[in-house]
Amino acid sequence: MKGVILAGGNGTRLIPFTRVINKHLLPVGPYPMIYWPIRRLRDAGINDILIITNKKQLSSFIDILGFGENQDVRIQYQIQENEGGGIADALMNAKSFIDHGKFIALLGDNVFEDSLTPYIKAFQEQKEGARIFLKELKDPTRYGVPLIDPTTKKIISIIEKPADPPSFYCVTGIYMYDQEVFNIIENIYPSSRNELEITDVNNLYIKQGLLHYDVLKGWWIDAGTHESLYKAQRYVCANQFGEEIN
Ligand code: DAU
Repeated sequence: MKGVILAGGNGTRLIPFTRVINKHLLPVGPYPMIYWPIRRLRDAGINDILIITNKKQLSSFIDILGFGENQDVRIQYQIQENEGGGIADALMNAKSFIDHGKFIALLGDNVFEDSLTPYIKAFQEQKEGARIFLKELKDPTRYGVPLIDPTTKKIISIIEKPADPPSFYCVTGIYMYDQEVFNIIENIYPSSRNELEITDVNNLYIKQGLLHYDVLKGWWIDAGTHESLYKAQRYVCANQFGEEIN
């Protein structure tokens, strides 16, 4: 299976740093943020990786990561022409890289503890469709939030950044898709914030009864704000250097 990491966007919640550096190249512990999703893929046996980013920052990625030589992976790059056009717009750029079969896509600002190995196995056993990963949070308002049927435990729909969340779960930036995702993206429209939303893609999978999910067990952080970037630093450093987390 191949892996895709989305590392475009404008990183507005990390201004002023993101005026001069792509968010995913900011430090989390001793490495750039994007190192961690690369490592999660590699540890799960996924060595063929596409990074999608903005044109003006591509050379910085190549300077820091090269083509994966130092991490035992093969990294290719693709430009998202419509900068900030949304996660689904960015993902569309993976179509020729994926070519056929199922794949995993990670948001480059998601840093997490769980190994992907058992989840990839479950997805391989899944005949078709998509698989997403939830995490329980005290306040999921800044994320995609699932409405879950209390009896069947199936996801009824996902709402992007709801003021009044329908559950305490958020949809993390770990997504597994079959080829059908590219047809779905071609059939969605920009949202009110003018982005092609991954939540719209997932809702279309739900409509077809083809969206499955797991709940992450370990810590998970979307490091896209100053506060959460600091938290990611602490968690990673605790892991790397044995510091205690309270
Ligand atoms: O982290 C999980 C959340 O990520 C989900 O719960 C939400 O449903 C999902 O929409 C997303 O929300 P964010 O507001 O955190 O998305 P953000 O704009 O920060 O983008 C997340 C990643 O996607 C970021 O690492 C860069 C990449 N991206 C984003 C956009 C808008 C791109 O590559 N291109 C883009 O155009």
